[in-house]
Amino acid sequence: MAPENDRLNSRAGDPFSPIAGHYDTIMEHVNYGRWSHIAESLASLLPRPLMHLDAACGTGLLMEHLRHPDWHSTGIDLSAAMLEVAKRRRGLANLARADLCALPFRETFHLITCLFDSMNFLLHEDHICTALLSLRQALLPDGILYFDMVTHKMIADHFNNESWTERHGNFRSSWRSTYNQKKHICETRVRVNTGRISVTQERVYAVEFLCDAIQSAGLRLLAMRNAYTWGAVNRQSPRIDFVAVKQGNDAYDTRFQEVEQRIKRDLKRPKR
Ligand SMILES: C[S@@+](CC[C@H](N)C(=O)[O-])C[C@H]1O[C@@H](n2cnc3c(N)ncnc32)[C@H](O)[C@@H]1O
Repeated sequence: MAPENDRLNSRAGDPFSPIAGHYDTIMEHVNYGRWSHIAESLASLLPRPLMHLDAACGTGLLMEHLRHPDWHSTGIDLSAAMLEVAKRRRGLANLARADLCALPFRETFHLITCLFDSMNFLLHEDHICTALLSLRQALLPDGILYFDMVTHKMIADHFNNESWTERHGNFRSSWRSTYNQKKHICETRVRVNTGRISVTQERVYAVEFLCDAIQSAGLRLLAMRNAYTWGAVNRQSPRIDFVAVKQGNDAYDTRFQEVEQRIKRDLKRPKR
């Protein structure tokens, strides 16, 4: 399936628009330091100046953590509302509206990050395959793709037909999640105070499918790890980190193993 720019031109609306202005506050508890630390560790394998793409960058929270003088970061996202917040609040220059499945880049980036479940928002296996091809095309030879996915365990434990309210200083967010286990799709409704409701859907994918899709896209899987520990993935892993490389050789693998050990060790420290 070739979604091309269907989603960019869709009249379906922007599901993140009702919460974009409150997203940073709602996500205050999220550990962006872990993602940025792992991205920086992976970047130690790559040349400088480093061309970096944060794919599905949202409001640019991760890009803010990854500001470095020798990094040139670009952010893309499908949501105009999320990008508006990124532009306004962070003064990030290189931001554009684009679809993960039709990225307007060819051999441009050393490192691509695509985190906080962003790939789970693609609801068809074909779209995952198309996105991986598109991400691969955007990578330079030997470039690294670092993305994560939430699993059935995460959704079953926290988003399985639950309703709850969170307080954030001067506003509150009300959440309702519905998990269709047959379709592997979780729908989450979020409302800030009495405002419009954001309705998003995420799909959980089998690890075997994802590994095949990575390989079919012409990427080589370097690591698939429990995102919180970088230990082995099993049925109890709530979120999985995937690291894949475009081309690469054995020497690269040895250097990657050192970085991997360092990440694993660092994640044991408090606050990672
Ligand atoms: C949970 S948010 C994560 C945002 C950001 N990565 C972060 O860490 O805060 C998921 C993001 O994926 C974006 N997204 C969903 N589908 C997309 C697509 N097909 N192409 C580009 N972005 C997409 C949404 O607009 C949203 O900003």
